[in-house]
Amino acid sequence: MNKTLLAIDIGSSYITAVIAKNNLDYKINILGTGSSKSDGINKGVISNIEDASNSIREAVSIAQKNTTEPIESTVVSITGAYTKCIRSSGSVNIPNGLITENEINQVLQMALYNATIIPEYDVVHVIPIFFKIDDSADVENPLNMNGSRLEVSVFVVTAKKTALTNIKSAMKMANLSVTNFVLDPYASAIAVLDEQQRNFGATVINIGATTTQYVCYKGSSLIYNGFLPVGSNHITNDLSVMLHTPPVAAEKIKTEYGNLLRSLEEIQNKKIRTPRIGDEKISSEVSLEHVQTIIHARVEEILTLIKSDLKKSGIYETLGTGLVLTGGMSKLEGIQELATLIFDNLPVKVSNPVNIKNGYMSFEDQKMSTIVGLLLYSLDPNRNFELDSNKALIKKRKIDDLSTVKIESQDLSGLDLSTPKPQVAKKNIKKEDPKLDDSGKLPTLNKKDKSKGVNKIWNAITEWF
Ligand SMILES: Nc1ncnc2c1ncn2[C@@H]1O[C@H](COP(=O)(O)OP(=O)(O)OP(=O)(O)O)[C@@H](O)[C@H]1O
Ligand SMILES: [Mg+2]
Repeated sequence: MNKTLLAIDIGSSYITAVIAKNNLDYKINILGTGSSKSDGINKGVISNIEDASNSIREAVSIAQKNTTEPIESTVVSITGAYTKCIRSSGSVNIPNGLITENEINQVLQMALYNATIIPEYDVVHVIPIFFKIDDSADVENPLNMNGSRLEVSVFVVTAKKTALTNIKSAMKMANLSVTNFVLDPYASAIAVLDEQQRNFGATVINIGATTTQYVCYKGSSLIYNGFLPVGSNHITNDLSVMLHTPPVAAEKIKTEYGNLLRSLEEIQNKKIRTPRIGDEKISSEVSLEHVQTIIHARVEEILTLIKSDLKKSGIYETLGTGLVLTGGMSKLEGIQELATLIFDNLPVKVSNPVNIKNGYMSFEDQKMSTIVGLLLYSLDPNRNFELDSNKALIKKRKIDDLSTVKIESQDLSGLDLSTPKPQVAKKNIKKEDPKLDDSGKLPTLNKKDKSKGVNKIWNAITEWF
């Protein structure tokens, strides 16, 4: 107990490492943080072990500068690029009528045993969809309940062995080992869902640099995991090619001028200067209208692909409290409004983790959802029962455990788990900016304007997807 944990989010733009442990009062105490530019990782998959290993080593060594505590366990995020999810179920008899952690472990192991797992895949998560005791279905927490038979229906996440081995090899080259793997969008969901969304269900979409990953909850049960090999870097590539400007300038245009809320009247005569690719001493003028059209096309494409995947999977009609967008690309102004439009007026929120105070790094950022989820997955004492990537039971901390421990001190570097209230990310709409629509509504691009730009660029854009 109270082991020092190293959590690593292997993102395609940055690798983030955090060293943390539970205080005696179970608050998460952040001991050190580090991040490094990500190399050797493409669309969530390790493409060069040596480069990836160097990036991991760099992020971890920065985090270690702040603490001398030896690392006792390590949790690493994996992407849905090489995962397969299946459902299974299991049941066990309860000989003495009382359900203990033992029976819960047994029934989950039984459900795992019953699952048809492809030989070249390894188990990452076995997450209960629902428990059933005798005839009463939908038991949220069977611990200490009475009955003669315990059943469980589970969602099993498996990942390609070779992909996991590549991560382990990269970690080993950095003198680190992996204790646990956690699916990236599952971690994001743990970090950003609020209580209501956790109870009534929601879809969490993490749009990063080169991946879009999402998980769907029906009620409080995880029922779907989706992955698209496309993210915000594709917008940068689109801008770079369409505007004939270097990727660095394209990235700057995206983050500084990307705003889907601006109406065409506001931007059609606005121009910005940008360097020419090949000869950066020469600059050329591009119109903001063109910039917006390019960004709009890519974002619309990503959101539409998610929607059609959810429709195809038959879960679009049961999306609970709606969508929660997170990850770096969810910072794009207007993405919330565009998602609302595409997802037929479902409630859409942009969320980031909150309630985390530490002196090292701001976690209240959409980019931090995965790393915060990894911390909560490993250190939150109130986690639900499930099996981890070692097929070991994650246990709920007993209430008396919590009440008998002494509270060491009010440590501001801790993460207060007593009030896990993710917030809707603040939007940077500057009211004084005359170009912006005060109503915050997404200006509808009329068909003529839309097709004007979109058709011209569509063929070129799809080359990157
Ligand atoms: N305002 C913005 N508009 C659009 N994209 C943005 C904005 N701010 C940041 N981004 C993009 O967010 C991405 C980084 O997000 P994040 O850290 O979530 O990705 P990652 O975890 O490294 O990637 P992945 O999860 O795909 O492996 C970058 O591509 C960056 O350009
Ligand atoms: Mg990410």
